[in-house]
Amino acid sequence: MERPFPTVAVVGLGTMGAGVAVAVARSGRRVIGVEAGPSQAARALARIEASTARAVARERLTAEERAALLALIEVGDDLAAAAQADLVIEEVPEDLELKRGLFAELDRICPPETVLATGTTALSVTRIAAATARPERVLGVHFFNPVHTMKLVEVVRTVLTSPQAASQVAELARDLGKEPVAAGDRAGFIANGLLFAYLNQAAAMFESRYATREDIDAAMRLGCGLPMGPLALLDLIGVDTARTVLEAMYEQSRDRLHAPAPILGQLVAAGLLGRKSGRGFYTYEAPGSSHVIAEEASEAKARPAGREVRSIGVCGSGTMATGIVEVFAKAGFPVLLAARSQEKAERAKAQLAKSLERSVAKGRLTEQARDAALALVTPTGGYQDLADVDLVVEAVAEDLAVKRELFTTLDKIVKPGAVLATTTSSLPVISCATATGRPQDVIGMHFFNPAPAMKLVEVVSTVLTAEDVTATVLELCGKVKKHPVECGDRAGFIVNALLFPYLNDAVRMLEEHYATVDDIDTAMKLGCGYPMGPFELLDVVGLDVSLTIEKVLHQEFREPGLAAAPLLEHLVAAGCLGRKTGRGFRDHARR
Ligand SMILES: NC(=O)c1ccc[n+]([C@@H]2O[C@H](COP(=O)([O-])OP(=O)(O)OC[C@H]3O[C@@H](n4cnc5c(N)ncnc54)[C@H](O)[C@@H]3O)[C@@H](O)[C@H]2O)c1
Repeated sequence: MERPFPTVAVVGLGTMGAGVAVAVARSGRRVIGVEAGPSQAARALARIEASTARAVARERLTAEERAALLALIEVGDDLAAAAQADLVIEEVPEDLELKRGLFAELDRICPPETVLATGTTALSVTRIAAATARPERVLGVHFFNPVHTMKLVEVVRTVLTSPQAASQVAELARDLGKEPVAAGDRAGFIANGLLFAYLNQAAAMFESRYATREDIDAAMRLGCGLPMGPLALLDLIGVDTARTVLEAMYEQSRDRLHAPAPILGQLVAAGLLGRKSGRGFYTYEAPGSSHVIAEEASEAKARPAGREVRSIGVCGSGTMATGIVEVFAKAGFPVLLAARSQEKAERAKAQLAKSLERSVAKGRLTEQARDAALALVTPTGGYQDLADVDLVVEAVAEDLAVKRELFTTLDKIVKPGAVLATTTSSLPVISCATATGRPQDVIGMHFFNPAPAMKLVEVVSTVLTAEDVTATVLELCGKVKKHPVECGDRAGFIVNALLFPYLNDAVRMLEEHYATVDDIDTAMKLGCGYPMGPFELLDVVGLDVSLTIEKVLHQEFREPGLAAAPLLEHLVAAGCLGRKTGRGFRDHARR
């Protein structure tokens, strides 16, 4: 098949347009760049020359390639030149009337077979297409910033776009070394649609003072492996841009979770737009700088010293318990591994030995350190031996009745003044606390799986937790090289409350046939730098576990948008629970 679109016009050569022009020229196509006026055209050309010179300096491009590429690009300010193109890509500012006017003009200038593409992020492609007499040849082509590194391109079809035009543009994208995904015309398309709803929730979480900006950001980086925390990302994107995208999403979805968090409006009104203005959620050294300035110390609250922790008990014998024992033992704490029977405790210790062995084999742990850690762990059947430990972490089954019973038992056995922690991920910590006669000593210590590898611990204080108990756990996290974040005792804490609504949104997107499993996963990985797509993650976590967490979140906040997607319920009912059963959103058995 012939290469599609040998000549491409790019209208608007700003941040995006200049990048697109270079990418297209690199594929050997002729590029006709059009700017608003002669001075803008000169500036645009200078920008293209500078960016390609940087690419040569960084050895991403040879000097010959740069010369060849520049020879293919012409830049002017006469839109009529676009008539020679097979495809026009519009990258002017995000303004509906500006874009509609431009498309009406292009429709008049260009031959009827020319395909017209808009680079809009959040405007309706359909409304832009309606300004022309060829809506079947109008579509969206959404590149990501910076164009030269971001591989994702969303190819957006309206109900009128011809499949042929869309497939040709997808082919062009592949030719540019990009990964095209197909999306329908909806504000935010795939990647931003999922991303901005999550960013909005993070902003609302910060606004409600549930956790600090640093803790929210650290939680999502360390708990989910995201490249940036949500508030730092909002500052990078621009608070004003984020608010505009969310407004557009809300206008279409009427989902309250898309209604921009009030704090976004306040920041915009105050001119605090993020990095570009030197201040947003964070304060930066200067406008445009990425260097965050620490705020005055007055914000850091004075805290009492923690209690002394010399020995630790861990209750349970499963994955989390064993992992948590490993964390403490490796840091040099004597640990009592308390399970329901001596046999279970011994088996858990054997698991631990295997895990340490793997670390030795990978060269991450010396044999001496392995032996030292193992020698610190004493398996015990029952909880009687916990009488003298300074801190107990409970990691038994995620069942409130079971946990409450355990806390009642611990209350009778463990010495006064010891800290009692639960690692529950979805049950209220306060319900564990009230099963004891010392709720002030009870706290949540939410580790992530696998505990030895995951740096994050959510430290969950209830309304009754004593301040020195919180301090004890924060200090302990430091000693075992974990990154603690503090939050209150509500469903999902920080990570799950932000992660699972996003996963649920992805399921809903699939259920609505808006995009495919593969396209949604690709969009989040390539468009947002996520380590896994939402469906990959759901299959790993388990659909049943995910459904439970979503139900808990919905029950807690009663937000209609948090109701679990019916498709998730159906898959769970059908026994498709993800990797563990061989089938979830993908069929793993056949691979
Ligand atoms: N910046 C991003 O991160 C990003 C990412 C994806 C998509 N987008 C979308 O891409 C589009 C372009 O955004 P940008 O960030 O490159 O904006 P920008 O402001 O950097 O560039 C816009 C350019 O268009 C020119 N322009 C204005 N009116 C024009 C006209 N009538 N004819 C020709 N040129 C004209 C301007 O001189 C300017 O150089 C927008 O729709 C935006 O939403 C932006």
